[in-house]
Amino acid sequence: MVVDVLGFDFMITTMTLGEKFKRHRYLFHKYFKRLEHSKYNGAQLIQVNVFLRDLLKEPESFRTLIHRSSAAVVLRMLYGHDVATDGDKYVELAAQVTAAITKAGPFGTFKVDYIPWLRFVPSWMPGAGWKREALESRKKARQLLNEPFAQAKADLISGQEAICMVTTELEALMNGDKNHNMNVDEEVIKNTAATAFTAGAETVVSILSSFFLVLTKFPAVQQRAQEEVDRVLGGRLPTIEDRGRLPLIQSMVYELLRWNPVTPIGLPHYASEMDTYGGYTIPEGTTVIPNLWRMLHDPVAYPEPNTFKIDRFLNRILANETHVRDKNARERAGPRGVNSIPDAAIFGAGRRACPGKYIAHDFIFLMVTSVLATFQVTRAVNEAGQEIDPNPRLHPFPRKPSRLVPLRDHSSVSRGSPLDSRE
Ligand code: HEM
Repeated sequence: MVVDVLGFDFMITTMTLGEKFKRHRYLFHKYFKRLEHSKYNGAQLIQVNVFLRDLLKEPESFRTLIHRSSAAVVLRMLYGHDVATDGDKYVELAAQVTAAITKAGPFGTFKVDYIPWLRFVPSWMPGAGWKREALESRKKARQLLNEPFAQAKADLISGQEAICMVTTELEALMNGDKNHNMNVDEEVIKNTAATAFTAGAETVVSILSSFFLVLTKFPAVQQRAQEEVDRVLGGRLPTIEDRGRLPLIQSMVYELLRWNPVTPIGLPHYASEMDTYGGYTIPEGTTVIPNLWRMLHDPVAYPEPNTFKIDRFLNRILANETHVRDKNARERAGPRGVNSIPDAAIFGAGRRACPGKYIAHDFIFLMVTSVLATFQVTRAVNEAGQEIDPNPRLHPFPRKPSRLVPLRDHSSVSRGSPLDSRE
């Protein structure tokens, strides 16, 4: 498979079920499971604050700032790395590696996915252009795997470490801590961190990009969202505790994830035994690729699937929120299966479901609500003074930057930590 040539074999996503997979997944679970994710809210809030502060200074750079803040959260919690304000090497590396995965990752992109021996073809052979490209990407993938890890390890050895997943696990390993799971060796720590970095940073970038697109394209959506944010927060910035009181924003986050999914084509799965589905026989060894776009745009499950409906999931959310006492929400939510919360299609289900979904949800909620509380996003205008309607294809940013207008005097906005604070 091309992932081996590309050097992505360190990623959990490419491991088949078995001992190796279990050891990696264990570590993931330890740090990112449902009950652990709130530990990272502090680091997330710092990055949201930095994002808003920089957005105020240079609104036209919002794309770069989204990249930086999304990577900064994962780099801090995995490696204890604080990103540089201008051109952080790891942020750039993550973007390059993701671009390579996006191009070559989907099973079947290259013939080598079907004819495995093609991986042995020398890169100088005519027709082996894919291999030359893959070897270039491989260098970047190895850098991403090794460099931030080596830096965190060096910091630990010199006593300058920041608390993060890598240093905590390495320290326990080196000290022979009796609570340390001996199946977790240095390679498992390194692979898990690099997988989380690769899988964690750019997925969130994609959804936050869609968020700016939606605000730019659909002013009425922005207005409704801001009404709820202003009514509930009254001019301050959100914390994660506010989420339960902002059901429309929760619905909006799910609609963002549904309307323009991060992974329109899901990760390939390998049938470990013969199965049947919908009258089809799936022989053992078949590669099954879920068409998540189709599932999330099924007109029966999501009526008018191409329309962005901010309140699509509102009643479902109200019905499940015990502290929002809305007895009739369940009936208003309509028949089962229609506009149900699409968690499984967005994040996967079962043993291979996305382990980063809780931290992703938290960060997206904090970013979305904070931007709504502080900025008005409008369409950019062309030289003739006409508004530009962004017309995206996949995973878009508006083609021309949107215009961002501060909503209020930012010096008065707070959530306990001032807007201009990095700490
Ligand atoms: C909007 C954000 C995200 C979306 C929509 C998303 C979606 C997905 C999907 C669809 C899968 C495949 C599930 C399957 O095959 O059944 C997946 C797997 C995975 N995700 Fe995420 N993800 C997001 C964020 C994150 C973050 C922040 C992290 C880590 C910090 C992460 C780590 C992973 C890993 C490690 C896997 C592979 C799991 C395995 O193969 O066992 N994801 N994600």
